[in-house]
Amino acid sequence: MDKMSDEVEHRMRLLREKVSYHNERYYRYAEPEISDRQYDHLKRELEDLEREYPEFARPDSPSSEVGDDRLESFPNYDHRLPMQSLDNTYRFGELRDFANRLERLLGEGELEFVVEPKIDGMAVSTTYEGGKFIRAVTRGNGIQGDDITANFALIPNYPKVLTAPYPEVLEVRGEIYMTLPEFKRINSGRLKEGLPLFANPRNLAAGTVKMLSRKEAGSRRLTWVAHGLGYCDPGYYDTLTDFFMDLRRWNFPRVQNHWVGRGVDFCISAIGELDGLRKDYAYSTDGAVLKLNRIGWQIQAGSTAKAPRWAIAYKFEAEQAVTRLLDISIQVGRTGTLSPVAILEPVQLGGTTVSRATLHNRDEIARKDVRIGDFVKVEKAGEIIPAIIEPVMDKRASGLAPYVFPTKCPACQTEVIPTEGEAALRCPNTMGCPPQIRRRIGFFASRQCMDIEGLGEAVVDQLVGRELVASPVDLYGLEKKDLLELDKFAEKSADNLLKALEESKGRELWRLIHGLGIQHVGVAASKLLAQTFLDLEKLAGATADQLIEIEGIGPIVAQSIVTYFGDPIHGKIVHGLIAAGLTVTSSLSERSGSIQAVAGKTFVLTGVLPNLKRNEARERIEKAGGKVVGSVSKKTAFLVAGQKAGSKLQAAKRLGIEVLSERELLELME
Ligand code: IVH
Repeated sequence: MDKMSDEVEHRMRLLREKVSYHNERYYRYAEPEISDRQYDHLKRELEDLEREYPEFARPDSPSSEVGDDRLESFPNYDHRLPMQSLDNTYRFGELRDFANRLERLLGEGELEFVVEPKIDGMAVSTTYEGGKFIRAVTRGNGIQGDDITANFALIPNYPKVLTAPYPEVLEVRGEIYMTLPEFKRINSGRLKEGLPLFANPRNLAAGTVKMLSRKEAGSRRLTWVAHGLGYCDPGYYDTLTDFFMDLRRWNFPRVQNHWVGRGVDFCISAIGELDGLRKDYAYSTDGAVLKLNRIGWQIQAGSTAKAPRWAIAYKFEAEQAVTRLLDISIQVGRTGTLSPVAILEPVQLGGTTVSRATLHNRDEIARKDVRIGDFVKVEKAGEIIPAIIEPVMDKRASGLAPYVFPTKCPACQTEVIPTEGEAALRCPNTMGCPPQIRRRIGFFASRQCMDIEGLGEAVVDQLVGRELVASPVDLYGLEKKDLLELDKFAEKSADNLLKALEESKGRELWRLIHGLGIQHVGVAASKLLAQTFLDLEKLAGATADQLIEIEGIGPIVAQSIVTYFGDPIHGKIVHGLIAAGLTVTSSLSERSGSIQAVAGKTFVLTGVLPNLKRNEARERIEKAGGKVVGSVSKKTAFLVAGQKAGSKLQAAKRLGIEVLSERELLELME
């Protein structure tokens, strides 16, 4: 292979890993690390390369999936119709291409479209049977979502019953969001309590929907708006606008404005109007959605693997403002990465006051030649942190000195070093730099890792500040007298935390692996590693070659794992955790993972099983190393069929796929 194709292939692999990683941050944890815009760019680059170099495209690429918000703690539910994502664009020209394509496909002149605000929230599908609300499910992976009925029921504005006439079974799709005033109310409460602030309303809404405590979820007001038609039986509607009339009749909350008209020029002017109106909306909108009005045309146009061909999102360019750069403050992250943060003269932007913005890294500052004292263009796209675009050169005062990036860590004064393969600099004082320690311990204790109740940020800050804890190992050496010295700690809270720590020793191996905070190793990779190595020490001794062998682990992740365990400090942590009595081998159920007949095989479940709930069956199969997907394809190894199995069973028979009963499944896994 020539050098050029080598590079392309490498770039595509890197993009796949990055997009998967950021999918997980956004959809599963509602804690994105990059802006929507940056994400869209990565994904678009990957899609373009896949089109140009199909020989390097992979069927499991994140470009052909919709992301996955499912968490272990929720029961799953199969959508009757998949919940897809939307293609998006920032250019009117691409809207024209979209409309032309549809006109050609349908052999019609100017088609009728509905234009609506795109709500930046959390997608939800509500089901009504016999006119009664019965269920709310998140998008999940598009095929199967989390059943969030209990938390959804806390939302005041959804109809519990529909007035007749109504279709027998109806799925209404919509978006859960949090209003800006409610978001501000919650954040100002947290500010008073010294808790970290939530980044934006979308992530807070997504996080709230997935709270396990109804009481806590109920203390935050969520709301939602309906925008789409899912499964409907009997088929009922000719057009979306007919459906919207029923939504209104049934008292579903709807967007304030929508536009219905023919042709792409109409849509573009509607988008212009929307742009003027959107700042007064209660939810944040980052764009407009164009959808074909006629349901018959929608069906004819069909969809790709992840998105309908009859709809597209147009995203607004981020809002910009100009303000003065007062200072550059350097923050130290969990892995020691130094992130420059711009301290700005406060400026109104996208409905909020902005006084800080990201400057990414040293190279970015140098490339843009940003200097303290400059007027800078700031951009915000309904996203996590606003970003500095560039200095406004003709406003630059004379005598401003170029910015010199510190060569020492601002927190611990250690000489900084470049990070492998990335533009960032980092502080190598892993074990002695307080902000690094705080963030690492916080991450280790968090819900997505060891899930240690009562070990929130405020407690971690104190433990690290008093030098009681410098590594996860120290947590397990804490004594009651240590805890009693902390603010707001009494007998009971100290006992509870010790109990929570004790309990956490038995957590599954993947949680521990994830909690180590190895760069690029998210939940999915941690699970793969736990399943493959079954033992922390074996993983610690793995070579890059062994790691790359694992389907789903690429060279970048592999290298990062090898580098991590190659550091003697981390070796000491591993041994400390073993000595503290943590579970460092996978539990019996995880271990059954190596069951030959199941590992690596794809299963589909259908119908009602006699004993196991869907969820239980899925969990068992996954623990045994198998994968459960929603629809039957040539890649399916087994269909597990219960009573009332229907179309999936037929599909499996047609494709000659082995069909198992529940009993046969259990035998297979024995
Ligand atoms: S219609 C997928 N209308 O955006 C089929 N979707 O980024 C068409 N969204 O999954 C969806 N506002 O959850 C539609 N007014 C709106 C919307 C909207 C937000 C969400 C939706 C979709 C996601 C894609």
